[in-house]
Amino acid sequence: MKNNKFETQCVHEGQLKDTLYKGAISPLYMATAYSYEETDRYPRYFNTPNQVGLAEKIAALEGAERGLIFGSGMAAISTALLAFLKKGDHVVLQNDLYGGTTNLVVEHFENYGIEYSFTEGLSAHDFEAKIQANTKVLYVESPSNPLMKIVDLEAIAQLAKNNSLVSMIDNTFASPVNQNPIAFGIDIVLHSATKYLGGHSDILAGAVACSSAHMEKIFAVAKSLGGNLSDLSIWLLERSIKTLSIRVRQQNENALTLASYLEQHHAIEKVHYPGLSSHPDHSLAKKQMKGFTGMMSFALKANIHRTTFEKSLKIIQPVVSLAGVESTITIPAITSHKLLTPEGRKKQGITDQLVRFSVGIEHVEDLINDLNQALEGAANEG
Ligand SMILES: Cc1ncc(COP(=O)(O)O)c(C=O)c1O
Repeated sequence: MKNNKFETQCVHEGQLKDTLYKGAISPLYMATAYSYEETDRYPRYFNTPNQVGLAEKIAALEGAERGLIFGSGMAAISTALLAFLKKGDHVVLQNDLYGGTTNLVVEHFENYGIEYSFTEGLSAHDFEAKIQANTKVLYVESPSNPLMKIVDLEAIAQLAKNNSLVSMIDNTFASPVNQNPIAFGIDIVLHSATKYLGGHSDILAGAVACSSAHMEKIFAVAKSLGGNLSDLSIWLLERSIKTLSIRVRQQNENALTLASYLEQHHAIEKVHYPGLSSHPDHSLAKKQMKGFTGMMSFALKANIHRTTFEKSLKIIQPVVSLAGVESTITIPAITSHKLLTPEGRKKQGITDQLVRFSVGIEHVEDLINDLNQALEGAANEG
């Protein structure tokens, strides 16, 4: 199975055999109590049949030796960080991260005696500048939320190796369809599987993929923290990932068309999409990504009434999460980045007119029409 192509792995890797009835899909094993005569099988040890099967699929999709599935993206992220950071250690994190990860670090790490620094920018030099004698981990997120900035994965991996550090990436926005960080030397790949892996806005889950040696350390913490996903959701997530490749490729294609459309629209100030040649990191994105994702953000011109725009959309829905098959928008200033001060948001380039757009798999012409009617309506009001 491991030698099969990505699309085939999405469908078949880690699938459990239905030896009893010879059904074509994985049977679901919901037991939380297994005989101790055979093994210490228990859901919180991440070793039920469905957990093990899906972990193999995730590992294959990321080109990793091992995978582990969690109850949320934050369970995966917090467990991985705590597996490599103890009292007195230090972590360097990208300045531009998912808000929940920033909150975990800023609100809790001091209680555990863990030191941290956020970078000034996203280059490897920016990370290097923050490395201290007690640094143990470099943490990145690429593309970043919501401005779709790109971090040079090869350079970060090399920097980590040169300094004997563990490198971690939140690969949620790219998904394994578009980016496999392990191929560039990154040690640990993290996902909010709630997003592209689940893809239907109905499963909350997380995932980790890495080497067996790193996984041993993560597992040792994971079984105590207890952040596993229930087998029922594991089974649903396995089903969702069967269509991951075709979903995300359609989202990539729609997003590229829409980004080009929006870029020339009179109501739009700027489009942030790594697939556009106007994006400052376009060539880096081309080097390390196979597609540019269904995620983008765009700034409305000052004369466009943002709330009218949001309320006028008929197909595209205003929601907090992302990466479902349905197109959605979010306003970072009032959702994901609302805890920052207005100055902090301004410093990061997150204005009140910025819209984050998660492109779905609908027909692209319908999405263009929906955006256009909402933009024209909001322009008349502006
Ligand atoms: C980039 C990124 N990482 C991590 C998370 C956290 O994932 P979850 O909500 O599944 O815990 C999110 C959630 O929005 C996210 O967007």
